[in-house]
Amino acid sequence: MVRKVACIGAGFVGGPLGTVIASQCPDIQTAVVDINPEIVDAWNSDTLPLYESGLSEMLLAVRERGHNSVRGVSSNEGHCANGLTNCNLTFSTSVEVAIEEAEIIFLCIDTPTKSTGPGEGSALDITNLEAAVRTIARVAKTDKIIVEKSTVPCGTAGTLRDLLKNEANGACHFEILSNPEFLSEGTIISDLLHPSRILIGSEMTPSGRKASDKLAEIYRKWVPDDLIIHMDLWSSELSKLAANALLAQRVSSINSLASICEETGADIDFVSTACGLDRRITRAMLQPSLGWGGGCFKKDIFCLVYLARGLGLEEVANYWASVVEINEYQKARFLKGIISHMHGCVAKKSIAVLGFAFKKNTSDTKNSAAITLVRGLLAEGAFVSVYDPLVPESKILADSTMRLSKPEPGQLQICKTAYQACTGAEAVVVATDCDDFQTPSRAIPRDSSNLNLPPTLNSRHMDERNPGLNVHMRIHKPLDWRSVVDSMQGLKLIFDGRNVLDGEYLRGLGCRYVGIGKRVA
Ligand code: UGA
Repeated sequence: MVRKVACIGAGFVGGPLGTVIASQCPDIQTAVVDINPEIVDAWNSDTLPLYESGLSEMLLAVRERGHNSVRGVSSNEGHCANGLTNCNLTFSTSVEVAIEEAEIIFLCIDTPTKSTGPGEGSALDITNLEAAVRTIARVAKTDKIIVEKSTVPCGTAGTLRDLLKNEANGACHFEILSNPEFLSEGTIISDLLHPSRILIGSEMTPSGRKASDKLAEIYRKWVPDDLIIHMDLWSSELSKLAANALLAQRVSSINSLASICEETGADIDFVSTACGLDRRITRAMLQPSLGWGGGCFKKDIFCLVYLARGLGLEEVANYWASVVEINEYQKARFLKGIISHMHGCVAKKSIAVLGFAFKKNTSDTKNSAAITLVRGLLAEGAFVSVYDPLVPESKILADSTMRLSKPEPGQLQICKTAYQACTGAEAVVVATDCDDFQTPSRAIPRDSSNLNLPPTLNSRHMDERNPGLNVHMRIHKPLDWRSVVDSMQGLKLIFDGRNVLDGEYLRGLGCRYVGIGKRVA
């Protein structure tokens, strides 16, 4: 029976993972640790370092349970935030203590693409991961199961095993497991609670298998046994990269077909539906867009490309690289389309961009297609007003102007509301699938009801108990497109970069609607 686990790294993976383990396994003491005191302080405050639907509710419930256990319900030790002294989830900078105490250590450390040296721009940088494993080697006094949780290059388990062999004193046994995360930003808690599968890669030895079973024991507390799949380390590590590459390939494929639709008059939404209804294809990841983004697709595909090149498989490397190339082409094509619809020139014209994150329900802008769009419009001399419900103003500003000569004064405006951004604009570009932007017939209510949280944990109830913890929670406020169109001027063009709007409805309001992969009426 596992009693103590540690998550090293309190970012997008470690924080939510630790919270879910603590929530689902009250008998397990979970320590989430990070060398960055700022992120730890944020986890221990009422303003969490990231917005994820259902996260603050779950965290509060764990803390609440800790609070009740002070009155004798549980004997777990630990120090929670908000003055609670007895809950099974802690966030701290005490990395060494957590390592010493834990039986299972999840490595939830960022592995960015290398920015210098061999593999620059394609290989993953595992420096921080290695540093954490060095600390484990130095500090551990008992046997440990070390779990690769964040994405790593294939073969990393072997590298870490060698590192431990060289640097640890040999007194304890280390078993490395690969247990990749398949978390999608915006639905991280739901993905953790209801995973499509849990992969556990281990060495095919009795001790490897034993460690794999021990980790499965934790997941079995909330995941059906048939979704927990045991395999070898290489297969598990490769599966993570392969899954992201295949997902990105689907979006790149539908976007490439969208360009054919635009030339021929076919409608990509029909094509996508027609293909997606094939039970072998399914409809997932077939929504055309101005280009996919996020911190993982590009990084993981480049990692795969680097691996293939290293293995001398040049054709395979080129095949996967083309998935990224088509995405860059799509982003450029979308910008070109806007310019062309605005009579070949956007200079001095006002354009509103709604949505700046790489997708809805997140404040993350990594590789967001909106960045390419806004930078491109600014470079062409347009006046751009940007609104995103979750991305901070400073982030939009930094991303939009990075590597650009300074825009003219007043050329870029970051707005507090969509209405402010659209007023006086000749064109409005919808760049994310944010529910707020959808036209009435397509609007989807936004709540956490799909998370299967206990009924008492609805957001209003949480707000009453702890308003501070929900500062990131937003009420879905659908945009009044009639007011938007009325406030626009000139060409009154609406570019739908995610095909989330109802073109007929918008045309009825008196504007021109341009979707991806659609004939312009
Ligand atoms: C992705 C994977 O979906 C997760 O399974 C994986 O765990 C994660 O990367 C990771 O490796 O950490 P994420 O990057 O959060 O998750 O985003 P997705 O929801 O997959 O979307 C990626 C991009 O594709 C977004 O820009 C999105 O708007 C775009 N997209 C998605 C489309 O343009 N069309 C679609 O049909 C779906």
